[in-house]
Amino acid sequence: MAGVDFEDAAQVEYDRNQTSSSPEKEQALVTRLGITAEVTRLGITAEHTVIDLGAGTGNFAIQAALTGAFVHAVDISQAMLTYAQRKAEIAGATNIKFHQAGFLSYEHQDKLADWVVTKNALHILPDFWKMTAFLRIAAMLQSKGIFYLRDAIFSFPPADYEASINQWIRQVAKPEGEGWTTSDFEMHVCEEHSTYEWIIEGMLIRAGFEIVEANYTTPTYAEYLCIKTS
Ligand SMILES: C[S@@+](CC[C@H](N)C(=O)[O-])C[C@H]1O[C@@H](n2cnc3c(N)ncnc32)[C@H](O)[C@@H]1O
Repeated sequence: MAGVDFEDAAQVEYDRNQTSSSPEKEQALVTRLGITAEVTRLGITAEHTVIDLGAGTGNFAIQAALTGAFVHAVDISQAMLTYAQRKAEIAGATNIKFHQAGFLSYEHQDKLADWVVTKNALHILPDFWKMTAFLRIAAMLQSKGIFYLRDAIFSFPPADYEASINQWIRQVAKPEGEGWTTSDFEMHVCEEHSTYEWIIEGMLIRAGFEIVEANYTTPTYAEYLCIKTS
């Protein structure tokens, strides 16, 4: 684990701080993934097996489970899993299995998945290990299975790195006590492993994925919808 210590129970607070994930937003994502993927296959349904890697406090896993899909929620932090499990119980989402494991250690024992999802977690790994994670993700998916990735991924021109990073932090950092602060984002850039979109895309292709949709939502965030082709 790099950067933030997610084993620290206090980090579960991010659930309240963050603006990018809430039950409503994750429900919208579950629905949107279905619509986006309709050209190739149906969206997440009760017949599907979904793996959420770096599931955190479980917002996406719970909403995916409420569609009837069977969800494997994987996170390296027991503090996160304990919190997510409690939320799942309250939401009445029983078709979730929680696993304390990581991108590089989770052994998928169930039938091959229809979906693997990872949001705001992959930047924890340096690029060499991201490639390993992509290969492992491809191996968890059935042929034509779908991989959805969202993370802090940089699409600004590399020569503009200083201005782009500073602008990003100015735009998103919150005052102390109200969410992620300037020093949290500075730590992310210094100690964690967000990288450029052309590196991520090269890795996805080499892992056997076809990128069917790439959204650079801002110069510092991206999301990908990929299909396992080989
Ligand atoms: C910022 S949270 C994001 C959680 C959730 N996906 C979301 O979008 O709200 C990052 C999560 O990744 C987990 N994590 C850190 N290192 C990991 C690893 N090597 N493998 C899997 N999960 C990891 C952390 O414990 C944390 O729960």
